[in-house]
Amino acid sequence: MNYQWYPGHMTKAMRMMQENIQWIDLIIELVDARVPLGSRNPDIDTLGKGKARIILLNKADLADAAANQAWMDFYRQKGFHVLEVNARSGQGVNRINSLVQEACRDKIERDRKRGIVNRPMRAMVVGIPNVGKSTFINSLAGKACTKTGNKPGVTKGKQWIRLNKNLELLDTPGVLWPKFEDQSTGMMLAFIGSVNDDILISEELAVDFISFVRDRYGSLLQERYGLETMEGPAGMLEEIARRKCLIKKGGEPDIGRASKLLIEDFRGGKLGRMTLEWPGEDRNEGK
Ligand code: G4P
Repeated sequence: MNYQWYPGHMTKAMRMMQENIQWIDLIIELVDARVPLGSRNPDIDTLGKGKARIILLNKADLADAAANQAWMDFYRQKGFHVLEVNARSGQGVNRINSLVQEACRDKIERDRKRGIVNRPMRAMVVGIPNVGKSTFINSLAGKACTKTGNKPGVTKGKQWIRLNKNLELLDTPGVLWPKFEDQSTGMMLAFIGSVNDDILISEELAVDFISFVRDRYGSLLQERYGLETMEGPAGMLEEIARRKCLIKKGGEPDIGRASKLLIEDFRGGKLGRMTLEWPGEDRNEGK
């Protein structure tokens, strides 16, 4: 299945970001803690050259705790300021202000030497669709000032938010990039809901998902659905349908509904904490 999704509004959004980068002191980049590398848009590194950088491992509550720690170490070693957060519960969000001060220390010091004090730092908040950007901004701003939704690409237009005297945020729409480096990146982004489901075939997505997680997290699938066999993703999907009583009129297992259920369960964390890629795996080097 082709997972590539790069609609025209993303090109426009990227242009908006390029036009505004001159006003920005730092980039706050949200990634999905379950796919901490694949959910980073490589174009952001080009955009953010020379800027202070923060990476937030969002949805940390849905990812393996040991992996969260390993990824934080990974990104710190690369010179990023890093934090794990749960934007939905607000956990970790209150540490942002001090992290911004830390990340912008050189900038603030340069300003001070030029006689500029108390200028708010301007942060561009970036992240691919569905990574939790709106939820994060709402949590940080303490009120529902940004529209949130579960459709990729729902955040539109340009939006400055003054948080306090030290920090202003520029919200940006969720953008992907024109060509994923490999099939597994596209797949993982589809699993976490960052690729528009309308272009995907749910049965294929579910089969790919089972194949992808079976070795590491097969026991979580078994527990959740009471599976007796682990033989072949298609067979497992069929068993999920039977166990959940998703049966078509003629008595056939309803694979379509079972597929949607499985993916929704994963996205909502109902299968348990899962991380889909770990530092040190082959494809992770170099980013
Ligand atoms: P976006 O702006 O980046 O596109 O994402 P958005 O904030 O709309 O969040 C997408 C979904 O992810 C929402 O769920 C949101 O609640 C959920 N979410 C965001 N951050 C976290 C987190 O840290 N942990 C968990 N567990 N979930 C998070 P939804 O089901 O689409 O909407 P809703 O039912 O929560 O409103």
